[in-house]
This record gives sequence, structure tokens and C-alpha cells, in this order.
Amino acid sequence: MLCETNKELAAFVTKARAYAKDGKVADYIPALGKADPNDLSIAIQYPNGHCVSAGDVKKKFTLQSTSKVISLALAIMDWGAETVFEYVGMEPTGDPFNSIAKLESNVPAKPLNPMINAGALVVTHMIKGRSMEQKFERLLEFVRELANDQSINYCQEVADSEYRTADLNRALCYFLKQHNRMNENVEQLISLYSKQCAIEMNCLQLAQMGTVFAMDGINPVTSKQVIPKDVARICKTFMVTCGMYNASGEFAIKIGIPAKSGVAGSIMGAVPGRFGIGIFGPALDEKGNSIAGLKLLELLSNHYKLSMF
Ligand code: DON
Repeated sequence: MLCETNKELAAFVTKARAYAKDGKVADYIPALGKADPNDLSIAIQYPNGHCVSAGDVKKKFTLQSTSKVISLALAIMDWGAETVFEYVGMEPTGDPFNSIAKLESNVPAKPLNPMINAGALVVTHMIKGRSMEQKFERLLEFVRELANDQSINYCQEVADSEYRTADLNRALCYFLKQHNRMNENVEQLISLYSKQCAIEMNCLQLAQMGTVFAMDGINPVTSKQVIPKDVARICKTFMVTCGMYNASGEFAIKIGIPAKSGVAGSIMGAVPGRFGIGIFGPALDEKGNSIAGLKLLELLSNHYKLSMF
């Protein structure tokens, strides 16, 4: 078992926190700019219910891109993998998360994978529901089921802040609409996507979601198969190949576990068959990943030999 005690884990957090000063909190969504760059917390959730944690683990953050794994799982459960991958590809880009470049250079236009914004917008538009409200309700219910907490909701302030400043994402949507990759009203989709990114939780809840992926889609708290095994496998594979955007290769070499980041500073990890990880550290590196969070995972991976490779 990795880190039997909170004290043991806290020593790693102290070491990694020193790297936060080299990062910067995201402020292109103005509400995210209020975060404290020195925050760093982690929870490790084992399927037997044991949880080890360190830092201010009750502090809430918004999921941002970490939510892309969850929306992908739901869209595949709604439509099947074959249909979803008619609209979005399976290949890493090597580009930043919000890049538009490869949409134009790839013919026919199709987002390269569901972890970049272009792909995630297509995936979110595929979630089934008669209205945007119903699509969001279904996604939120799914998150609550994975995290075992019915009180989870979204942060209106962050959602509004993203909605007001999401012109690059609007551009991606209009491009995709022109190329028949989506048929959604763009303003409504941006509103839905902004709410999805603004779903709010803490490290303990994020680690619970990670555990479901680690355990091949079984929620250990309820023993229910909440995500089909094959869908969990697809999600974990994307977490390895694209979870850190254009830093995914380095992450695979240095850390070597399925993980997904978000610009509010979260990282959800899933160590196959073993445990889930939830990290929050809002100071980001230049690629939009938590700088101290990555360091923390690297220290843990080296010390406890977590790499799958
Ligand atoms: O689409 C956006 O800009 C954000 N709501 C999510 C981006 C994100 O989290 C990228 N991750 N590192």
C-alpha cells in the first residue's frame, strides 16, 4: 500500500509545494484568477474504503478539463464507441488544449481526440437529453454517482465567467458546425460546456471518481458497475495518451499512470486495480497542468514505483 498515513503523504506535499512558486494560476477565465497559488492537496482513495490525504483536502475547485473524461464516458454509454468516434478521433495532438490548428489541417475536419477542447465540445454536444438543462442534469447526476456525493453541484460564478470569455471555444464550435461535426446552437452548447467545466468538488471526491476508473468502472462503495469495463478502459487510455495535452509524453515517461488535468489545478489519477488519486494545486505550468501537482505525482511515482510501463 502506498503511504499508509497522512503524515507520510504530507511530507511529499511539503516537498512538491515548493514548486508552486514557478507556476501561475489560470486567469483567462477571470474567476479562476482568485485561487491561492500555494494551495496543494491530495487524496488517495483505496477500493477498500481506506483514504490517505494531505493538505487542505476540503477546499473546493472546479473540474475544468478533468470533466472531459466524465463526459466522454457518458457519451460513449449513450451512443456506443463506434458512433462517438465517427465524430472525434483517437490521436494525441502535441498541441495546446485550445488549439484550432489541426482542425483546419486535417481533412475531413474532425477533432483529433476528446481531451482537447474541440473534441470535448463535440462529445458534450452528444450527451443525450431533450434540452441543454437535461443534458447537464444527466452529467451532474453521473458525477454525483461516481463521487458518491449527491451534494455536488457547479459554481455559477465560474460558469458565468467562462461563458463570457469563451470566444475561442465559440470559434471551435462554429468551425465544427460548418463541417457537420455538430448541429448544436453554439451559445447553448458553450453555456452547457461552461457549466460542465464549473462542476465543483474537493480532492476527496475527485479521488473517489479516480477509483471507479482504477477499478474498471466498478464503484467500490456501491459495488455497482457504473461504467462498462470497456468504456473505462477507453477513458483510461485517453488519460495516458492525451490527459496532459502536449505534456502527455513526458508525463507517461516520468509518472506513467492514467491521469487528467484541469486548468483550475486538478489532476484525477487512476492507478489500475489499485487506487484513485485527487489532486488540487492551482499554480499551473506553461502547458496548463498543475505544476506542484505534477511534481507530487512524480515524487510518489518514483518512490512507490507506480508507473505502468
Ligand atoms: O475550455 C476551457 O478553456 C476550460 N474550461 C477547460 C480547459 C482546461 O481545463 C484545460 N486543462 N488543462
